[in-house]
Amino acid sequence: MGDHNPQEKETVVRHGIIELAEHWIIAFSGILLVLTGIFQLPVAKRYFITDIPGMAWSGDFIFTLELHYAASILFIAAAVFHIIYHGILGDRELIPRKGDVRESIAVIKSFFGNSKEPPFHKYLPEQRLAYAGMAVIIAGLIISGLVKVYKNIYSPGLSPAVLWWATTAHNIFFVLFVLAIIAHIGALILKPNRPMIRGIFTGSVSREYARSRHPLWIRETEQTSEPSGSEEARPESRDPVTANESSVQDGNEENGEK
Ligand code: HEM
Ligand code: HEM
Repeated sequence: MGDHNPQEKETVVRHGIIELAEHWIIAFSGILLVLTGIFQLPVAKRYFITDIPGMAWSGDFIFTLELHYAASILFIAAAVFHIIYHGILGDRELIPRKGDVRESIAVIKSFFGNSKEPPFHKYLPEQRLAYAGMAVIIAGLIISGLVKVYKNIYSPGLSPAVLWWATTAHNIFFVLFVLAIIAHIGALILKPNRPMIRGIFTGSVSREYARSRHPLWIRETEQTSEPSGSEEARPESRDPVTANESSVQDGNEENGEK
């Protein structure tokens, strides 16, 4: 417990409470949507999932559909909030940039070989690409899902061609979503990425990790916090470091940025 180097205990804020809530509402409702979506196909009874204690509901089509609707309300609300909130704030940290594909390949190689990874901004290039991919998949699920809801509730006679397209799209995006979640969790199991896991639960990562792996992020936040000099005025989530040190490990890699 108490025998750690005190430096290691220092943390920097990486996500505010709003970002954490967005992530976990999307994750929780998304996983619920996957399960209730699967249970709408007649699989729960066939594979004896209904026999598991507490899982009898999985064979009830109407109940699983209602749960699917309930989860979709959370899912859509969080997605819409995310776009409006970060749109208004002008947050761009997760938007892919030029060169991300090339840089991602170099980073992935560094995980398996002994080449060194470049210094990062707040997010890795592959996180920005993953975010864009997730955004397309989530938008596809919502749009095709809404068409299916419209058919169920208002228009049972909706053109079969439209319904076929909506269902096919919904099913394809469903598969992509599941693959994306597997890749997402898989990436976090890789050792260099593990320090971020603590961040998505508590909001903070170790300062040691942030400085050595995300020096461009730390430098940006130090730059934005120094000139104003009024530290107390800033909300915590926008002020991850207390700007009292400027040396950065790997300091000779200053020009990793385009
Ligand atoms: C439906 C499920 C989920 C979705 C849609 C989702 C989506 C996302 C997205 C879009 C990002 C930002 C881009 C990225 O880092 O790839 C992210 C970050 C992250 N997610 Fe998830 N996620 C899900 C589940 C989970 C779970 C179960 C964990 C478990 C530990 C997790 C841990 C993280 C972590 C550690 C980050 C990195 C945050 C950082 O950069 O500090 N996610 N997630
Ligand atoms: C993570 C997101 C989602 C996943 C993984 C998912 C998955 C599924 C799956 C596997 C099915 C069963 C196959 C089918 O009928 O196409 C389904 C059906 C359906 N989903 Fe989703 N879905 C998601 C989001 C949504 C959203 C956001 C909505 C509503 C806006 C929605 C509305 C529906 C409807 C209405 C059905 C058809 C129920 C019926 O048979 O009448 N889904 N979903």
